[in-house]
Amino acid sequence: MQKIIAQDLSFELYLPASDIQKRVQALGAAIRQQYENKNPIFIGVLNGAFLFTADLVRACQISCEVDFIKIASYAGTTSTNKMKKAIGLSKDIKQRHIILVEDIVDTGNTFSKLLPDLQVLEPASIAIATLLLKPEALQYPNLPIQFVGFEIPNKFVIGYGLDYNEVGRQLEGIYQLAE
Ligand code: IMP
Repeated sequence: MQKIIAQDLSFELYLPASDIQKRVQALGAAIRQQYENKNPIFIGVLNGAFLFTADLVRACQISCEVDFIKIASYAGTTSTNKMKKAIGLSKDIKQRHIILVEDIVDTGNTFSKLLPDLQVLEPASIAIATLLLKPEALQYPNLPIQFVGFEIPNKFVIGYGLDYNEVGRQLEGIYQLAE
Protein backbone atom coordinates (compact mmCIF):
# COMPACT_ATOMS: atom_id res chain seq x y z
CA MET A 1 0.00 0.00 0.00
CA GLN A 2 1.48 3.31 -1.10
CA LYS A 3 1.62 5.83 1.75
CA ILE A 4 2.09 9.58 1.78
CA ILE A 5 2.91 11.67 4.81
CA ALA A 6 1.51 15.20 4.52
CA GLN A 7 2.57 17.35 7.44
CA ASP A 8 1.08 15.63 10.50
CA LEU A 9 -1.19 13.21 8.62
CA SER A 10 -0.75 9.93 6.83
CA PHE A 11 -2.61 9.09 3.61
CA GLU A 12 -2.87 5.87 1.63
CA LEU A 13 -3.52 5.33 -2.06
CA TYR A 14 -7.24 5.21 -2.81
CA LEU A 15 -7.59 5.85 -6.57
CA PRO A 16 -4.57 5.09 -8.73
CA ALA A 17 -3.71 7.46 -11.59
CA SER A 18 -4.76 4.90 -14.22
CA ASP A 19 -8.30 4.64 -12.74
CA ILE A 20 -8.61 8.42 -12.72
CA GLN A 21 -7.46 8.77 -16.32
CA LYS A 22 -9.86 6.03 -17.48
CA ARG A 23 -12.77 7.70 -15.72
CA VAL A 24 -11.86 11.14 -17.08
CA GLN A 25 -11.94 9.70 -20.62
CA ALA A 26 -15.44 8.30 -19.95
CA LEU A 27 -16.63 11.65 -18.57
CA GLY A 28 -15.16 13.36 -21.62
CA ALA A 29 -17.13 11.05 -23.90
CA ALA A 30 -20.35 11.73 -21.98
CA ILE A 31 -19.79 15.48 -22.19
CA ARG A 32 -18.98 15.22 -25.90
CA GLN A 33 -22.33 13.52 -26.54
CA GLN A 34 -24.25 16.32 -24.85
CA TYR A 35 -22.19 19.34 -25.84
CA GLU A 36 -20.78 18.69 -29.29
CA ASN A 37 -21.61 21.76 -31.44
CA LYS A 38 -22.60 23.80 -28.37
CA ASN A 39 -19.16 25.34 -27.87
CA PRO A 40 -19.47 25.22 -24.06
CA ILE A 41 -17.35 27.22 -21.64
CA PHE A 42 -15.60 25.06 -19.07
CA ILE A 43 -15.06 27.04 -15.88
CA GLY A 44 -12.54 25.39 -13.57
CA VAL A 45 -12.66 26.26 -9.89
CA LEU A 46 -9.14 27.03 -8.69
CA ASN A 47 -6.97 25.81 -7.21
CA GLY A 48 -8.21 22.26 -6.77
CA ALA A 49 -9.62 21.69 -10.27
CA PHE A 50 -6.57 22.74 -12.27
CA LEU A 51 -5.51 19.20 -13.21
CA PHE A 52 -9.00 17.80 -13.70
CA THR A 53 -9.96 20.74 -15.93
CA ALA A 54 -6.86 20.29 -18.09
CA ASP A 55 -7.47 16.56 -18.51
CA LEU A 56 -11.24 16.85 -18.95
CA VAL A 57 -11.18 19.44 -21.75
CA ARG A 58 -8.69 17.30 -23.66
CA ALA A 59 -10.79 14.17 -23.10
CA CYS A 60 -13.91 15.88 -24.52
CA GLN A 61 -12.38 16.57 -27.94
CA ILE A 62 -14.94 19.22 -28.83
CA SER A 63 -14.59 22.89 -29.57
CA CYS A 64 -14.94 24.77 -26.32
CA GLU A 65 -13.58 27.66 -24.29
CA VAL A 66 -11.88 27.48 -20.91
CA ASP A 67 -11.91 29.91 -18.02
CA PHE A 68 -11.13 29.72 -14.32
CA ILE A 69 -12.59 31.25 -11.19
CA LYS A 70 -11.43 31.40 -7.63
CA ILE A 71 -13.68 31.34 -4.61
CA ALA A 72 -13.21 34.23 -2.25
CA SER A 73 -14.68 33.64 1.23
CA TYR A 74 -15.16 36.39 3.70
CA ALA A 75 -16.99 37.20 6.96
CA GLY A 76 -18.60 34.51 9.07
CA THR A 77 -16.80 32.31 11.53
CA THR A 78 -17.26 28.83 10.05
CA SER A 79 -16.72 27.58 6.51
CA THR A 80 -20.47 27.13 6.03
CA ASN A 81 -21.66 30.58 7.12
CA LYS A 82 -18.93 32.41 5.23
CA MET A 83 -19.99 34.49 2.23
CA LYS A 84 -18.51 33.05 -0.94
CA LYS A 85 -18.02 34.89 -4.21
CA ALA A 86 -16.60 33.81 -7.55
CA ILE A 87 -13.80 36.07 -8.69
CA GLY A 88 -11.79 36.16 -11.89
CA LEU A 89 -14.38 35.21 -14.50
CA SER A 90 -13.10 36.83 -17.68
CA LYS A 91 -15.77 35.78 -20.20
CA ASP A 92 -19.27 36.94 -20.96
CA ILE A 93 -21.37 33.84 -20.25
CA LYS A 94 -24.73 35.22 -21.43
CA GLN A 95 -26.52 32.60 -23.59
CA ARG A 96 -23.53 30.24 -23.27
CA HIS A 97 -23.52 26.65 -22.04
CA ILE A 98 -21.44 26.45 -18.87
CA ILE A 99 -19.74 23.40 -17.38
CA LEU A 100 -18.39 24.17 -13.93
CA VAL A 101 -15.44 21.91 -13.19
CA GLU A 102 -14.67 21.09 -9.56
CA ASP A 103 -12.32 18.65 -7.86
CA ILE A 104 -14.75 17.63 -5.14
CA VAL A 105 -18.27 18.41 -3.99
CA ASP A 106 -18.50 17.79 -0.27
CA THR A 107 -21.46 19.53 1.44
CA GLY A 108 -22.31 21.42 -1.76
CA ASN A 109 -22.24 24.67 0.20
CA THR A 110 -19.77 26.35 -2.16
CA PHE A 111 -21.88 25.74 -5.27
CA SER A 112 -25.14 26.58 -3.50
CA LYS A 113 -23.71 30.06 -2.95
CA LEU A 114 -22.01 30.41 -6.32
CA LEU A 115 -24.77 29.30 -8.65
CA PRO A 116 -27.10 32.27 -8.05
CA ASP A 117 -24.19 34.63 -8.83
CA LEU A 118 -23.66 32.88 -12.17
CA GLN A 119 -27.36 32.51 -12.97
CA VAL A 120 -27.87 36.29 -12.92
CA LEU A 121 -25.40 36.45 -15.82
CA GLU A 122 -28.02 34.56 -17.89
CA PRO A 123 -26.09 31.57 -19.25
CA ALA A 124 -28.02 29.20 -21.55
CA SER A 125 -27.35 26.34 -19.09
CA ILE A 126 -25.14 25.40 -16.16
CA ALA A 127 -23.92 21.89 -15.35
CA ILE A 128 -21.41 20.77 -12.75
CA ALA A 129 -18.69 18.22 -13.50
CA THR A 130 -16.94 17.05 -10.37
CA LEU A 131 -14.25 14.43 -10.15
CA LEU A 132 -15.30 13.40 -6.64
CA LEU A 133 -18.58 13.52 -4.77
CA LYS A 134 -19.17 12.64 -1.11
CA PRO A 135 -22.88 11.67 -1.16
CA GLU A 136 -23.01 11.25 2.65
CA ALA A 137 -21.88 14.84 3.15
CA LEU A 138 -24.04 16.45 0.45
CA GLN A 139 -26.57 18.89 1.89
CA TYR A 140 -27.87 20.42 -1.36
CA PRO A 141 -29.42 17.60 -3.42
CA ASN A 142 -30.76 19.99 -6.07
CA LEU A 143 -27.40 21.11 -7.43
CA PRO A 144 -27.05 20.41 -11.18
CA ILE A 145 -24.31 17.82 -10.69
CA GLN A 146 -24.46 16.04 -14.05
CA PHE A 147 -21.01 14.50 -14.33
CA VAL A 148 -19.38 12.66 -11.43
CA GLY A 149 -16.09 10.83 -11.61
CA PHE A 150 -16.27 8.86 -8.38
CA GLU A 151 -18.62 8.77 -5.41
CA ILE A 152 -16.41 8.37 -2.35
CA PRO A 153 -16.92 7.92 1.40
CA ASN A 154 -16.92 10.90 3.72
CA LYS A 155 -13.16 10.83 4.34
CA PHE A 156 -10.55 13.47 3.62
CA VAL A 157 -8.57 12.96 0.39
CA ILE A 158 -5.62 14.62 -1.31
CA GLY A 159 -3.92 14.36 -4.69
CA TYR A 160 -4.77 15.16 -8.33
CA GLY A 161 -5.30 18.81 -7.44
CA LEU A 162 -6.69 18.32 -3.93
CA ASP A 163 -4.60 19.47 -1.00
CA TYR A 164 -4.18 19.30 2.73
CA ASN A 165 -2.86 22.75 3.72
CA GLU A 166 -1.48 23.09 0.17
CA VAL A 167 0.32 19.73 0.33
CA GLY A 168 -0.39 16.98 -2.18
CA ARG A 169 -1.84 18.76 -5.22
CA GLN A 170 0.82 17.37 -7.55
CA LEU A 171 0.14 13.70 -6.80
CA GLU A 172 -1.15 11.73 -9.80
CA GLY A 173 -3.37 9.46 -7.72
CA ILE A 174 -5.86 10.23 -4.95
CA TYR A 175 -4.93 9.37 -1.40
CA GLN A 176 -7.30 8.89 1.53
CA LEU A 177 -6.64 9.79 5.14
CA ALA A 178 -5.38 6.64 6.83
CA GLU A 179 -7.39 5.25 9.76
P1 IMP B 1 -18.24 22.05 -0.17
O1 IMP B 1 -18.56 23.52 -0.27
O2 IMP B 1 -18.52 21.50 1.21
O3 IMP B 1 -18.90 21.22 -1.25
O4 IMP B 1 -16.69 21.90 -0.27
C1 IMP B 1 -16.01 22.05 -1.42
C2 IMP B 1 -14.55 22.37 -1.18
O5 IMP B 1 -14.05 21.86 0.06
C3 IMP B 1 -13.71 21.70 -2.23
O6 IMP B 1 -13.60 22.51 -3.38
C4 IMP B 1 -12.40 21.51 -1.52
O7 IMP B 1 -11.63 22.68 -1.63
C5 IMP B 1 -12.77 21.31 -0.08
N1 IMP B 1 -12.79 19.88 0.29
C6 IMP B 1 -13.86 19.16 0.66
N2 IMP B 1 -13.53 17.87 0.92
C7 IMP B 1 -12.19 17.78 0.71
C8 IMP B 1 -11.24 16.69 0.79
O8 IMP B 1 -11.55 15.53 1.12
N3 IMP B 1 -9.96 17.01 0.48
C9 IMP B 1 -9.55 18.25 0.09
N4 IMP B 1 -10.41 19.28 -0.01
C10 IMP B 1 -11.71 19.06 0.30
